[in-house]
Amino acid sequence: MIQPVLAIETSCDDTSVAVVGEDGWVYSCVSVGQDQWHREFGGVVPEIAARNHLEKVLPLVESCLVQSGFSSQELAGVAVTARPGLLGSLMVGVVTAKALALAWGKPVTDVNHLVGHLYAPFLHDDEYCPEFESDDFLALTVSGGHTAIYQVESFEKRVLLGQTRDDAAGEAFDKFAKMVGLGYPGGPALDREARTGNPSAFVFPRPLLDQDDLEFSFSGLKSSAHRLLEVRSPESVQAERADLCASYQEAIVDCLVGKLQRAQKMTGCPRVVVTGGVSANSGLRARVLDWAQRDSIQVAIPPLRYCTDNAAMIGLVGARQITRGRIADQDLAPSPRSAPGDFVVRGVSA
Ligand code: KG4
Ligand code: ZN
Repeated sequence: MIQPVLAIETSCDDTSVAVVGEDGWVYSCVSVGQDQWHREFGGVVPEIAARNHLEKVLPLVESCLVQSGFSSQELAGVAVTARPGLLGSLMVGVVTAKALALAWGKPVTDVNHLVGHLYAPFLHDDEYCPEFESDDFLALTVSGGHTAIYQVESFEKRVLLGQTRDDAAGEAFDKFAKMVGLGYPGGPALDREARTGNPSAFVFPRPLLDQDDLEFSFSGLKSSAHRLLEVRSPESVQAERADLCASYQEAIVDCLVGKLQRAQKMTGCPRVVVTGGVSANSGLRARVLDWAQRDSIQVAIPPLRYCTDNAAMIGLVGARQITRGRIADQDLAPSPRSAPGDFVVRGVSA
């Protein structure tokens, strides 16, 4: 039997630990969010996030191992998110992973969080199984901090085809949700509200959609929403909230799906994944699945538990890295940015 790895994810405000095999099988995955700690500030407070990770991570390691049925000695090693993310949060995961690896006499491997998201659609469990293998595919990664399209040519070669010039799609969702009084975190609440609204009720811009490239921009959309809302009373915003949310969501989904379709035409790749926290959005999922069916494209979108930050996706990538001998040493340090070599930018090393 292939030995699984224990994986730790603490790059932002979710503390997550998983035991995962190289084939993507998830033996156990336990996560704790921190929304209640950050809500009153309307966003993630880095110091609070790091302190919470510190309290939660070791108890999660213990319960995750017990749930998986493996002992520490049966593991192939420890995988940890080392970049990109909040430095203090990453530090907790990296120090914990290195200490466990040292104590258990196992190797440790550092994983890029975004590479984790790219492979989340290839996790397996009792209720989810991807439709195709992870050899080569096109990926739209949409989260709170990133919006990008990648062409994954092999496990070692991930080419960045285009990304946002300013805000990420998740950020655009969260900020609009805050403007219309949906609280924090806004993305899921906006999604729920949009389900009963009319997506054509308001006209929002679709920045860069007609441009012949794979770039995104969401800051203009946010400003246009601000202008539309500032001339309305709180009562009328409240009354029209579902229509506002549906129209705003439609604009973001148009941009994301439009560029993904363009990338698919450019590369001719018939296998597409959509991943990252925003891939939980019901409007985006429905539109991508519709397109895939119409144009006979194979699509994998992970279930909600693997869309948002989780250690299982880090475990899958980490297990493959350990098999390929990509072991970190005890000098391993976290970084807020991706490392050279994590991605290639259209032929140029990132
Ligand atoms: O990948 P993720 O969990 O964390 C980051 O790495 O950023 O993504 C979090 C983002 C947040 O902006 C959140 O509002 C958004 O994903 N999100 C959603 C939905 N669920 C989560 N956005 C729109 N609709 C959703 N259903
Ligand atoms: Zn993420």
